Amino acid sequence: MRAAQAKRELERRTPRSRAIACERAEILNSGLAANLEMPHPILIERGEGAYVYDADGNRYLDTSVGFGLHILGHRHPDIEAAIKARTELGWMFGIHTTVQMKLASMLHEASPCAERVVFCNTGSEATMYAIRAARAVSGRERIALFDGCYHGAHDYGMWVTDPNSPVAAPGKLPMGHGIPGAIEELVTLLPYRHPAAFDLIRAQADELALVLVEGVQSSNPQPGAGEFLAELAEVCRTSGVLFGIDEVITGFRLAYGGAQERFGVVPDLATYGKVLGGGLPVGAVTGRADVMEVFTGLAAKRGIFSGGTFSGNPLTMEAGAAMLSHLREHPEIYGRLDAAGDRLAAAVNGFCEANRIPAQMKHAGSMFHMFFQREPIDCMRDAKPGREAAEKAFYLHALNRGVLIPGTQRAFLSTAHGDAEVASLIRVFQDSLADVQEEGLFH
Ligand SMILES: Cc1ncc(COP(=O)(O)O)c(C=O)c1O
Repeated sequence: MRAAQAKRELERRTPRSRAIACERAEILNSGLAANLEMPHPILIERGEGAYVYDADGNRYLDTSVGFGLHILGHRHPDIEAAIKARTELGWMFGIHTTVQMKLASMLHEASPCAERVVFCNTGSEATMYAIRAARAVSGRERIALFDGCYHGAHDYGMWVTDPNSPVAAPGKLPMGHGIPGAIEELVTLLPYRHPAAFDLIRAQADELALVLVEGVQSSNPQPGAGEFLAELAEVCRTSGVLFGIDEVITGFRLAYGGAQERFGVVPDLATYGKVLGGGLPVGAVTGRADVMEVFTGLAAKRGIFSGGTFSGNPLTMEAGAAMLSHLREHPEIYGRLDAAGDRLAAAVNGFCEANRIPAQMKHAGSMFHMFFQREPIDCMRDAKPGREAAEKAFYLHALNRGVLIPGTQRAFLSTAHGDAEVASLIRVFQDSLADVQEEGLFH
């Protein structure tokens, strides 16, 4: 089938989504910033397990699972029960509540670096606070981030690599307009999984407040990320620079103890979001007690401001505690998620090789990402532009076959994706790739 035909079929099946999407554009301006970008407008009405249902009643096998946070699938009964029970008691007070300690203790126990814990509301807030804390503790202002990493929407993280700059010394470009030029002076971009990153850290050691890295890059998930992480931690330690792992995605996904547990690397600070909140908005910073002390108030030594209307709100705390309780009681989940990810990637990559299709799936456990090239991809600098039409057509075909793959390409499996769902994904990925190949879109 050609992509145009898949589009027509989708249009025929989604009239209500289409009408709402048109009406919505007049009032609600939210692009990728608020919701997943899809190859065709669909508006979701409900979710159940591994599936979501759109406004026209069509069912899709979901590989976004709420930007990765529903690791147990949509509407897990334990989480739903916890949310319902909380609604009978009131769900927002703005004053400390008894339930905060439940989730704080679990996070304290789970996160290897967590001598102390602070809650906020999103992953973006968590990384913003980690940066502020590191600046306060070190008395330095420059931070170092990696090429291809994402740490949230605040100005400090809105830098992408200038593709024309040398690999060993990435130049920066702002991600869109509105990012103050002055911030650029405070950010060093480092090449990911490249030894030049270590040289840059050593050279700038006296200026750097923090080196922050994702546990595994969600833009480029690779199971071998741990070796680099361990070396990076050591370089930061010997250079006297604080080291932070952003576990917003990897926390409670790669392992119960996140990338720290999986790779045996303990940073000074770690940031959390997503799975931690059981499906409700959450962020958290964990870390060494002497660093985290800055969060105890402005009167503390080098104290910083942190706070927020919804930080530690009881509804999120209950949902998060229900999520973590389930994960803690079922450690076998992680082996199953990894096996499902391995099976999917092996089948898709084997199919691409056998049929000489220039595409590949990168994955680490249950996180995966499709790339449309044959050349190896160790870091995002290796990802080549030029096959956008093939990529778009692939997502369109998959959606038309009832599989939702986020246009941000960061895709995930959940425990609700059983053997049958993984088999469906394999079939749909293979058929959709074959369609794109047949139409001649892989130039
Ligand atoms: C690694 C990482 N850090 C931070 C964030 C920002 O989290 P949020 O969208 O909750 O602000 C994200 C979001 O996807 C992320 O993937």
